[in-house]
Amino acid sequence: MTELDASRSGTFAIGGDLTVNRLGFGAMRITGKGIWGPPADRDEAMRVLRRLPEIGVNLVDTAESYGPYVSEDLIGEALAPYDKGTIIATKSGLTRTGPDQWHQLGRPEFLRQGVMTSLRRLRLERLDLWQLHRIDTKTPRDEQFGVIAEMQQDGLIRHVGLSQVSVADIEEAGRHFKVATVQNRYNFAHRQSEAVLDYCAQNGIGFIPWFPLAGGDLVEGHAEARAVMDRHGASGSQIALAWLLKRSPVMLPIPGTGKLKHLEDNVAAANIALSDEDFATLDAIGR
Ligand SMILES: NC(=O)c1ccc[n+]([C@@H]2O[C@H](COP(=O)([O-])OP(=O)(O)OC[C@H]3O[C@@H](n4cnc5c(N)ncnc54)[C@H](OP(=O)(O)O)[C@@H]3O)[C@@H](O)[C@H]2O)c1
Repeated sequence: MTELDASRSGTFAIGGDLTVNRLGFGAMRITGKGIWGPPADRDEAMRVLRRLPEIGVNLVDTAESYGPYVSEDLIGEALAPYDKGTIIATKSGLTRTGPDQWHQLGRPEFLRQGVMTSLRRLRLERLDLWQLHRIDTKTPRDEQFGVIAEMQQDGLIRHVGLSQVSVADIEEAGRHFKVATVQNRYNFAHRQSEAVLDYCAQNGIGFIPWFPLAGGDLVEGHAEARAVMDRHGASGSQIALAWLLKRSPVMLPIPGTGKLKHLEDNVAAANIALSDEDFATLDAIGR
C-alpha cells in the first residue's frame, strides 16, 4: 500500500459478492455548470478519472442524468476496459430539461432505456450496480420495481440500489428484488437518514452518502470541527470523510470533484484515524 490508497479505507462486499474499497468517487462533478453539458476542463476531468485505478478507487458512482450522458461517456472513454474489481455504479429515473433541472421519470420503458444506453456508454455488458435515482411518485411503484426485477432476471443488472428512500421504501422494494445499496444525502452535519443507515447496517446493505462534503465547505461555521481538523493537520473534506468511514462499516462515501488535487486530498482521508473523542465532537454537531 502506498500513502495514497483507497484500500486503506477498508472493504465492503456489495450484494455480498462485489468487494470494493469503501472510499469511492462521485462522478457528477465532471460535467458542466448545473450538472449540464461537458466539464469546463475536459483534460482535467480525464486526468481525475484515469487517476482512480492508480490510487485504489474502484467504486465510481455516476448516472445517465449527469450531463446528461456526459459523465458516463467520459468514464467509458477514460477507464474501459475496466480493471478487474472496478464497479461503475450508475442510475436512471431522472430526466433533464436544462441546467439544475431534474424531473422524476420511473416509467418502465424509460428505466429499461436507461439501462440499455448506460450499458452502451459505459462499454459494459452488465451493470454491476444499477440504482433507481428516485422512486417516481407519478408511476405505480409495482411497475417501477417490476421492470427492475425483470432487468435483473434478464442479466442486464447484477445488483440493485435505491436513492433517497425511507426504511419503508426499502422494505417495499425488497419484495421485488434484493436491495444491495441505498444512496441518501448524509454527512456529519445532515443526519436525517440515521434510521436508514442503521437499517442498512443491520441488513448488510451498503450505504452511499451523497453530498458527503456538503459541497466542500462542511467545516466552515463549525469551530469544533475546525479544531479536529487542526489536530490532524487535515483538510475539512478529509475530516468529514474520516468521520463517515468511522461511523459505519457499511458506509461507502463517494466525494465528487472535477479536480485532481481535490481527488487526491479526499483519498488521503483513508489515512486518518479519528479518536473516539474527535468522532463524538463531530457527531454532536449533527445530532
Ligand atoms: N443520489 C442522489 O440523488 C445524488 C445527489 C447528488 C450527488 N450524488 C452523488 O454523490 C456524489 C457526491 O455528491 P456531491 O458531488 O454533490 O457533493 P460533495 O462530494 O459533498 O461535494 C462536491 C463539491 O465539493 C468540492 N470538493 C470536493 N473535494 C474537495 C476538496 N478536497 N476540497 C475542497 N472542495 C472539494 C467539489 O468541487 P471541485 O469540483 O471544485 O473539487 C464539489 O463542488 C456526486 O458526485 C454524485 O455521484 C447523488
